[in-house]
Amino acid sequence: MATKQLQKIGNYNQKNRGFFFLYFMPRQQLSSLLRRLVPACQGDLSLAQRELAWLKEHVQKTQPPALQTSTLDRYIEERVIHHKPLQYILGTQPFLDLDILTEPPTLIPRWETEEWVHRLQQSGYLVQGDRILDICTGTGCIALALKANTAIDISDEAVALARRNAAKHGQVLSVLKCDVFDDSVAALVADHDVVVANPPYVTRDQYETLEKDVKHWEDIRALVADQEGLAVHHRIVDLALQAKTKVLAMEIGGTAQVDPLRRRLKDDYAVHVWQDLRCKDRLVLATKRKIIQLVKWGVPISLAVIGYYAYQKQNRPNVGHPMPFKSSENDDSEYQKSRQEWAERNNGIGLRDVGRSGGGV
Ligand SMILES: C[S@@+](CC[C@H](N)C(=O)[O-])C[C@H]1O[C@@H](n2cnc3c(N)ncnc32)[C@H](O)[C@@H]1O
Repeated sequence: MATKQLQKIGNYNQKNRGFFFLYFMPRQQLSSLLRRLVPACQGDLSLAQRELAWLKEHVQKTQPPALQTSTLDRYIEERVIHHKPLQYILGTQPFLDLDILTEPPTLIPRWETEEWVHRLQQSGYLVQGDRILDICTGTGCIALALKANTAIDISDEAVALARRNAAKHGQVLSVLKCDVFDDSVAALVADHDVVVANPPYVTRDQYETLEKDVKHWEDIRALVADQEGLAVHHRIVDLALQAKTKVLAMEIGGTAQVDPLRRRLKDDYAVHVWQDLRCKDRLVLATKRKIIQLVKWGVPISLAVIGYYAYQKQNRPNVGHPMPFKSSENDDSEYQKSRQEWAERNNGIGLRDVGRSGGGV
């Protein structure tokens, strides 16, 4: 099911500019609705056909028959004239096996995100019982897919929507409104084993080149960040380094953003870069180096073991005076005698079981 959805969303994002076919197609084969919708799909005829089918299905499900034609007409106008994204009209977007509520201006979940979340679910980097924190949660799609414990976002609308999505899917998710730059976030990060995030990563210049569907409808705070698009990432890295987070997964916009993050993480973490289906670097995944974990857990465990044996040794004056061994050669009276001697040599310790038949070994 997930693969099917990925394919659907992948196709949805494809732009294979089909104006050519539109103008050479016999007029009667194109409904007027489809003809109107094509420009909103950047000229992609097959995408327009699919959008029309989804819109019709939505109208049939949600409107009484008398209102269906006028509603469909209004939706197409919203798509074409106002550049309203399809997902905001339909009100949902599939994300793996979830049906995520979507509402402007909260960012619509993207297929690139769905891809790495799916891979992370299968990867074995997350283990049962890990406490997961989703920073920059938006609709809550990542948090819900990974069954995170906590999610945070700076936007009131995103927090409200993520809570509704959690309730819709019957998941217990604590969604908090806060800025990742707030001091309080350090304690939150320290309280979780895994941190995942899809922070804003578009530069101001790149923002100017985005489609109207995005610029007119989605929150600019969900998209743009300073420091070459990495301001929020750097803050999350600071927090993870400080808290010694076990696994850190952050979505990025491309190769140029890998090195600045890798440089900061590489001493403490093994840094992996995952690509999306278009072979674009899409995720920086940092896993705490085994050696560091070995030191982190190995030192206290070794100290505890050494301490235990030192304590045992101190409280056992008989060490060096082995218990008498009862073998088949020793008859019982011999054994009792040697046990008595052993006990006397060791300040009376062991006297309690002297005389009990078969005592000793
Ligand atoms: C790219 S969207 C990701 C949404 C969602 N996680 C997803 O993958 O679809 C980034 C989100 O980060 C939030 N955000 C931006 N700056 C933030 C900050 N300083 N602290 C917390 N959240 C922030 C935005 O409100 C937005 O919801």
